[in-house]
Amino acid sequence: MSTTYREYIDQLNQEHTPGFYEQFKDIFKRALGVFLYDISGNPYLDCMSAFSAVNQGHCHDRIVAALVQQAGLMACTGQKIKNDVTPKFLKFLCELIGFDQCFMANSGVEAVEGGNKLARKYAFEIMGLPMGQGKIIVAEHNFHGRTSLALAMSTDQSSKRGFGPFPEGFIPVPFNDIETMKDAVERNPDVIAICIEPIQGEAGIIIPDGNYLQQVRDLCTKKEILFIADEIQSGLSRCGELTACSLFNVKPDILLLGKALSGGMLPISAVLANKKVMVAINERGVHGSTFAASPLASAVAREAVQVILDEKLCENSTRMGKLLREGMRSIESPLILDIRGKGLMTGITVDPKISQKDLQRELYEQKLITCPAHEHFRIAPPTCANQENIHQIVDGFKNALAQI
Ligand SMILES: Cc1ncc(COP(=O)(O)O)c(C=O)c1O
Repeated sequence: MSTTYREYIDQLNQEHTPGFYEQFKDIFKRALGVFLYDISGNPYLDCMSAFSAVNQGHCHDRIVAALVQQAGLMACTGQKIKNDVTPKFLKFLCELIGFDQCFMANSGVEAVEGGNKLARKYAFEIMGLPMGQGKIIVAEHNFHGRTSLALAMSTDQSSKRGFGPFPEGFIPVPFNDIETMKDAVERNPDVIAICIEPIQGEAGIIIPDGNYLQQVRDLCTKKEILFIADEIQSGLSRCGELTACSLFNVKPDILLLGKALSGGMLPISAVLANKKVMVAINERGVHGSTFAASPLASAVAREAVQVILDEKLCENSTRMGKLLREGMRSIESPLILDIRGKGLMTGITVDPKISQKDLQRELYEQKLITCPAHEHFRIAPPTCANQENIHQIVDGFKNALAQI
């Protein structure tokens, strides 16, 4: 072969798929715990965690075992066939998170779709709004996924370019600005819901002020509109709790979970709400999905969540996150402008005069897999990361910044 193996794989990618993502240069072959191993066996510490899908660590043995066992028993039947795995999982998840009911979906964006549909149906059936009316307030710089609905919610013009027309009915307001949000609700009597990420992930780990989420909750309660919390990234130990909402002592009306709900094993997501909301959609045939709520998805999610509890990943995330931010602050580089976070969800703002790509490359040389988000860097290793891993991340940043 005249080309190297890596060039050959690059060629296949170029020929056979659109280039949505800029990829790291090496080919990876194995993932275990907090590490990704390239084809030559070199370990890289994963500070991206598949965008927070592998909080439990890559290829967790218990989740793999649950997957294999259920896959060999009964994987996917369609939801017309009753099984005894899914209802038990739903009871477990509802009781754990504190809601009456839940319906499952596949990817995170499908939970966003489900949460939106639920809110709109609630507005029609319960609030009595005429069909096709009702606005949902969203936050600027949100990220809810990549379907046309999620793009309609987005304020990122570059991700929307060329893709319209989009569904209507969203009003963006600045995140963490309760007065503008209140104003938007006052000026638009047809607002039916507010849908936000309690901690903005893709925007660069933006933590709201201490009482912001409570104020959003109070506003929703006062105006009798729904609070939808997209915790697809912030949930399930990432921020140091099962939900970021619980970190701030608030309870949304509709909660969206995804990503770590399967420990990265399968696309599994969930929409949770109490019966008084869920009743709006409790009708044969109004919603569904072939793969969602399969016995396989339910068995995997059951084990993935149990691992979070058994291994005390929320507590670990809180402790390791604190250690990480302390370590990062000790670097004292003029290139680091801000460090913030909750649990192992840390955002770092670096001086805009250094190139994000250069820093990412230097970090990669330090065997750290990182992912910039706009002018920020996200550091989100699996929430099972230990002290040694955290020191490796801090040292890697120190060395990388020194090279820039
Ligand atoms: C907050 C949030 N919502 C929704 C999504 C979409 O999830 P998925 O990529 O699984 O569709 C993401 C993905 O990054 C996310 O961070």
